[in-house]
Amino acid sequence: MSQIPTASQSGDIRSSSCSAAPRSVPSYVSVVEGYERWAPSYDEAPNPLLHLEESKLTALLPDLSGKHVLDLACGTGRWLEKLLARGAGVGIGVDLSTAMLRVAGEKPAIAGRLAQADCLALPFRPEVFGLVLCSFALGHIHDLGAMVSELARVTRSGAEVFVSDLHPEAYARGWRTGFRDTSSAVQIEVFPRTAEELIRAFHSGGFECLTNLPLCFGESEKSIFARAGKIHLFTPACQVPAVVVCHFRRAPTGTRT
Ligand SMILES: C[S@@+](CC[C@H](N)C(=O)[O-])C[C@H]1O[C@@H](n2cnc3c(N)ncnc32)[C@H](O)[C@@H]1O
Repeated sequence: MSQIPTASQSGDIRSSSCSAAPRSVPSYVSVVEGYERWAPSYDEAPNPLLHLEESKLTALLPDLSGKHVLDLACGTGRWLEKLLARGAGVGIGVDLSTAMLRVAGEKPAIAGRLAQADCLALPFRPEVFGLVLCSFALGHIHDLGAMVSELARVTRSGAEVFVSDLHPEAYARGWRTGFRDTSSAVQIEVFPRTAEELIRAFHSGGFECLTNLPLCFGESEKSIFARAGKIHLFTPACQVPAVVVCHFRRAPTGTRT
């Protein structure tokens, strides 16, 4: 699991194949540098955070038939592939990282459906999308209010927005987004915020919060810890909400506060 968002202070659950290297102080890198370096290995190993999020978030998704969907900060296109397979009418993925998009572009189902852009300046006309998903990226966004405004601009009235991220409590305990490369742990710049700050930012941008789900690891993730040689970290990691998933709905323009 060299490429999971890591839990550096609460228990590192990364790849045993990498853990033979001497434990070192993590290096802290920008989002651009971090994903440039992480991209080639991002999809390689099973990741308990992504596993947990995928299983719970998939169950929340509505019927996608005919919908215009946006995978915001799509990375290597993990969710875009799934959204299209579930019948989305039109699906587009946007990400800042050239390297992550390069990996995404090698996947036949989503090649040609990708755009390089910043979440704060999306290359779309107003009121295009009926559903937006933004997975494990909010923590990297410095100006969340500006991102929510941009989301409000490109979504239709009543559009549904699903976001996931490391849970604020996990951030508070020192879990961080990162990976291990050939010799050292790498942590990518994040701006942790509380659940209240997250929901307030979306509310201010005209989105009603329908669901705010804290997710904890359970038996389904145990084998992933075991395969990584990190089973000793499983029980402590289960004590902390690992992931938050929120479901928002964009209010009609006239009713937004
Ligand atoms: C942990 S990865 C998640 C990728 C994918 N959503 C997933 O869940 O597998 C975070 C992604 O956010 C992207 N990202 C970070 N800041 C961004 C920004 N301001 N605009 C667009 N993408 C951004 C990164 O390039 C990276 O691909």
